Amino acid sequence: MYRHKAIYPGSFDPITNGHVFIAERAAALFDEVEVSVLINSEKKGAFSLEERVEMARTALAHLPNVTVNSFTGLLVDFLRQRKSSIVIRGLRALSDFEYEFQMALMNRKLEPEMETLFIVTDAKYSYLSSHTLKDVFRLGGEVRSMVPPNVYEKLLERFRPETPDA
Ligand code: PNS
Repeated sequence: MYRHKAIYPGSFDPITNGHVFIAERAAALFDEVEVSVLINSEKKGAFSLEERVEMARTALAHLPNVTVNSFTGLLVDFLRQRKSSIVIRGLRALSDFEYEFQMALMNRKLEPEMETLFIVTDAKYSYLSSHTLKDVFRLGGEVRSMVPPNVYEKLLERFRPETPDA
C-alpha cells in the first residue's frame, strides 16, 4: 500500500474551478498529488491530451506539491507505475455516485490494494461540469467565473476565434 502520494485522475476537458478546488483539498491531505489526465473512452474530447495537460499545469501552478501528467491505459496500471494506491475523485451530487461507485468497485476488483477517496465539492461548484460548461460557452453563455483564466483564454481561442475578448 503506497499512502504518501494520491492520484487525481479525470478527463479534465478542460479543467474547471471545481477540479481546482478538489486538487487544493487533496494537496492539503497528501505529501504529493498527481493530477492525471486520462482518456475516457466514453467521451469525445474537445481538447487534445497535450492541451488538457498544459491547461491543468498552468491552473495548478500555485500548488507546489501537485504535478500534472497523463496516461492512456487502465487507471490501475497507472497507479502501479506511479507507486500510489490512492485515487481521489470529486463528488458533486448524488447523481455522480452511481458511476463513481461502479468505477471504484471495478478498480478495486482489478487492484484490491487501491483505495478511492471522495472529496465533496464546494456548494458553489455543485452544478459545474466540463461538459455543460463547453455547451454553455459554445452557445454564447458566460463561463468566465467557472474556469481558471488560462482555460478561459483557451476556450475563446477554440470556440470563438473571430471574437476579440471584450
Ligand atoms: O473526468 P472523468 O471523465 O469522469 O474521468 C473518468 C476517468 C478518466 C477517471 C475514467 O474513465 C478512467 O479511469 N479511465 C481510464 C481507463 C480505466 O481504467 N477504465 C476503467 C475504470 S472503471
